Amino acid sequence: MSAPSTKPIRKAVFPVAGMGTRFLPATKAIPKEMLPIVDRPLIQYAVEEAYAAGIREMIFVTGRHKRAIEDHFDTAFELEHELEQANKHKMLEMVRSVKPADMQCIFVRQPQALGLGHAICCAEALVGDEFFAVLLADDLMVGAKPILQQMVEVHERTGGSVLATQDVPKAHTFRYGILDVKGNKEQTAQIYGMVEKPDPEEAPSTLAVAGRYILSPSVFGKIRTQPRGAGGEIQLTDGIAALLSEEGVYSHRYDGRRYDCGSKEGYIQATIDMALERDDLKDAAKAHLDKIYNK
Ligand code: UTP
Repeated sequence: MSAPSTKPIRKAVFPVAGMGTRFLPATKAIPKEMLPIVDRPLIQYAVEEAYAAGIREMIFVTGRHKRAIEDHFDTAFELEHELEQANKHKMLEMVRSVKPADMQCIFVRQPQALGLGHAICCAEALVGDEFFAVLLADDLMVGAKPILQQMVEVHERTGGSVLATQDVPKAHTFRYGILDVKGNKEQTAQIYGMVEKPDPEEAPSTLAVAGRYILSPSVFGKIRTQPRGAGGEIQLTDGIAALLSEEGVYSHRYDGRRYDCGSKEGYIQATIDMALERDDLKDAAKAHLDKIYNK
């Protein structure tokens, strides 16, 4: 096990430059990370999770839809002025809370959607030589303790990179990065092998990577030197796999739930569940579901 790192995780990278083809035509003019679950865009849930884990520097790797995300985390002078004039103070507070004063947002462009690994490398100069977090906002992750906070604690204990993981049905391994770990039953275990989207018969396990990572800065060099991986893309999985023989990389089975909001099924489930958890909406949502199913 590597020596525990004492430095806090200060920076989070949000790759938001994908094409989002599964959500066309909604994603023709806006990134999928701006699709709302109830009334907050997916990216805001992810940024709030990073903030709750103590991170204050948010780095967005954007593509052709740069504007909507930049605007979302910028001051909206006209809107704020109008809300103020109308004495809508609660709403004003809510709009302002999207970007707390101590949070910094930085935007960098991925010129072409060449894959997740390539997107992460676009943030290299901004991250520098320190461990950093990566959050895929289309994975909406909910836990009594925020998932990234759980991972920060594992990083503090182990000093290594940490991947959020979950058990998936064997038939679904082709959708995920799948791990080979020692101590497969443990909540936290060191990773020895990793393969992107294997067929069920070739998968080393059913332990799958979800969209939260704490990564060593050495991963940048590893990604850059890997050949193109699955689907001709520059894969993050291949870069992390190349780290395994040199540094500690740990799987953490998170406590909580994940919604794959890059898929329509996951997006609908998240919308229903989040509405049922909201004090102002749960009665109406429940009544509607009852009406449909208990006619
Ligand atoms: P996905 O493969 O789920 O996103 O990438 P996608 O390609 O946008 O989706 P579909 O399959 O076409 O519907 C996971 C994450 O990585 C980002 C995406 O924005 C998403 O958050 N990504 C992916 C990039 O930033 N750049 C890339 O080149 C690829």
